[in-house]
Amino acid sequence: MLDKHFSSKIFIDGGVPEETAQAKRLLGFLDGQTTNPTLIAKNLLGKEQRTKNKEQKKITQEDALNEYKRIVQEMNKIIPEGSISIQVFANADTKAQDMLSQGRLRYDWIPNHSIKFPCTTEGLKAVNVACQETPVNITLVFSQSQAAAVYEATKGAKYPVFISPFVGRLDDLGQNGMQVVKNIKKMYEGGDGHVEVLTASIRNLDHLMYALQLKSDIVTVPFKVFNLWGEGGFPEPGADYVYNKPELTEIPYREDILLGSAFTDYDLSHELTAKGIQTFWDDWNKLFS
Ligand code: G3P
Repeated sequence: MLDKHFSSKIFIDGGVPEETAQAKRLLGFLDGQTTNPTLIAKNLLGKEQRTKNKEQKKITQEDALNEYKRIVQEMNKIIPEGSISIQVFANADTKAQDMLSQGRLRYDWIPNHSIKFPCTTEGLKAVNVACQETPVNITLVFSQSQAAAVYEATKGAKYPVFISPFVGRLDDLGQNGMQVVKNIKKMYEGGDGHVEVLTASIRNLDHLMYALQLKSDIVTVPFKVFNLWGEGGFPEPGADYVYNKPELTEIPYREDILLGSAFTDYDLSHELTAKGIQTFWDDWNKLFS
């Protein structure tokens, strides 16, 4: 067990409370947890398969939502002071009011929640209201333009606001996902500091080291990478650390994207946001089909 402090808050990304407990034991503390429908569904499906009872009734939507709540409440017992992100269910057709209603139903699950909404027009309309009521986390962010919209949609928020750029999924397309984190940090330097950058979709130690070097406000680390990090004694990047990925295409900083416009004026479209909400939706709904 270590007693280290890092320049970023350290979260775990997952759907299994035992992993949260183990990660906390290894590191000595944990600042928070992120969850999403895919990760929770994976946990629930695993449980179903473990029972190996062919006669077992399919889980209902209500049961699944209650399980999500129970899992999050268990995580909260492990990290009572930690922030835990809980996601709403949405696809391309889901309206802001629906997301907001779902979010409101989650407010009393645990005290230290952050409600996750997708970075779509409807998602940001919901966030625009929700950030006056509760902490929020805007997920599936892949571009500087989306980050400008998140900033403006949450300006004047009464509660903490997190933005979650998904770096690994951009790498999957051959693009340098970490540069989106760098670009958002740079653009936000000109702002009021109300949005915390939470680097997500971390797949390897290099992502983690560079996120720490960039002073991402928060990093959310999947259990597998957490273990690798622990095997090395939870190192931090040295002053000479260089994140060098020549095989990935650059995502240059856009000087033409400026804070200060209405959130609806920014380009929110990104193929990975569209794909991401559909996958979250499908993974959750597979539980009932
Ligand atoms: O926190 C976001 C994360 O769960 C997504 O990760 O690996 O599915 O892109 P990944």
